Amino acid sequence: CAIREHAEMKASSLIGNFKKLKAENPDLIIGVVGCMAAEPHRAESIKKNFHYVSFTLEPSMLHMIPEVIFKYIEGRKRSFIFGSGFSDIVEGIVPHRASEHRAWVSIMYGCNNFCSYCIVPYVRGRERSRLSFDVIEECRSLISKGYKEITLLGQNVNSYKSDISFPELIDKISDIPGDYIIRFMTSHPKDVSPELIRIMGEKSDKIAPYFHLPLQSGSDRILKAMNRTYNKERFLSIVSSLRSAVPGIALSTDVIVGFPGEDEEDFLETLDVLKKAEFDLVYAFIYSKRIGTRAADMDMHISEDVKSERLSRLFSVQDVISLEKNKPYLNKTERVLVDSLSVKDGKKTYTGRTLTNKLVHFSAENAKIGEFKMIKITETGAFDLFGEEI
Ligand code: 5AD
Ligand code: SF4
Repeated sequence: CAIREHAEMKASSLIGNFKKLKAENPDLIIGVVGCMAAEPHRAESIKKNFHYVSFTLEPSMLHMIPEVIFKYIEGRKRSFIFGSGFSDIVEGIVPHRASEHRAWVSIMYGCNNFCSYCIVPYVRGRERSRLSFDVIEECRSLISKGYKEITLLGQNVNSYKSDISFPELIDKISDIPGDYIIRFMTSHPKDVSPELIRIMGEKSDKIAPYFHLPLQSGSDRILKAMNRTYNKERFLSIVSSLRSAVPGIALSTDVIVGFPGEDEEDFLETLDVLKKAEFDLVYAFIYSKRIGTRAADMDMHISEDVKSERLSRLFSVQDVISLEKNKPYLNKTERVLVDSLSVKDGKKTYTGRTLTNKLVHFSAENAKIGEFKMIKITETGAFDLFGEEI
């Protein structure tokens, strides 16, 4: 992942650890594949500093892995593939699915938004969408294999654009017969259309009552500097439309603290939106400078101390909200998709998620992983619920 520096540092130290593997086994072929390998300065640095890395490949070139490996075996020639212009979508790469009941299906790749802090448009290229036929057939096949949850994925799912629009796509998928739910992520607020909100309300038996709507900042001034193209008022109006169309909907968001130039007043605006929107869950990040983005060259970068202090203040506000949002679940019966089982001292505890994506730990005699089960909630916390089968 290239989105924040921390992830890149972890990846670099992992690559460093592979040196001894190569020393033990000179025939080992090591490749670095992903967004980080798509950043020219990173690819160059891997080439220069890690001599035992045989190739790097940007994500849109995944289909070239066999060719790259073949060429390396043939001629021991290292290759570093980046800046290729981000090829068209290549269909037919069979994904390895780790779960037999939850599946992730990419529907579009890339991003055109160029939020000023974000590296994604540079490493993933421009938006391109899969044909609806390919997406729908993949979903149909997953549902017929017994998958119970499908998450449609893209940097910007709402700007999916092929022969049909995103609301039409999700509408068509939800017409596939079967017992399953659909989720999607991530959405940019600018593309959340009234049609999508309407379809979520109409197809609530199939489309999960959950929406991840990244806020990033509550300050109009910072939103503008971030190039987010909406303001606080518009964001809150989308929240209220979602709440009235889909009763009981859970909302989550992403927030960045410490964007260049963010002052106390801006930060208080962000806290104000958190209080007004009442998200169930907030993923908050400290701003991380990404080389090549517009924000990296802005003035008034915020000190690490101030960023950390804002992050912990944000969580102290949000933790109370999350706790309150979970309280109404007490004594309610929820449909839960079962994910795992742990046995301790002969006692079985299962874990799963409600349709609103809340984590639930529950006791049951014989639940099956991958089935929906009706669970009565007996206790609530800020981040998880506890219950028992009924
Ligand atoms: N620094 C911190 N957080 C970032 N994100 C994207 N770019 C940065 C950055 N440079 C966050 C945004 C986005 C989430 C996936 O990661 O909040 O929604
Ligand atoms: Fe990055 Fe998302 Fe903005 Fe695209 S819309 S630039 S992926 S934060």
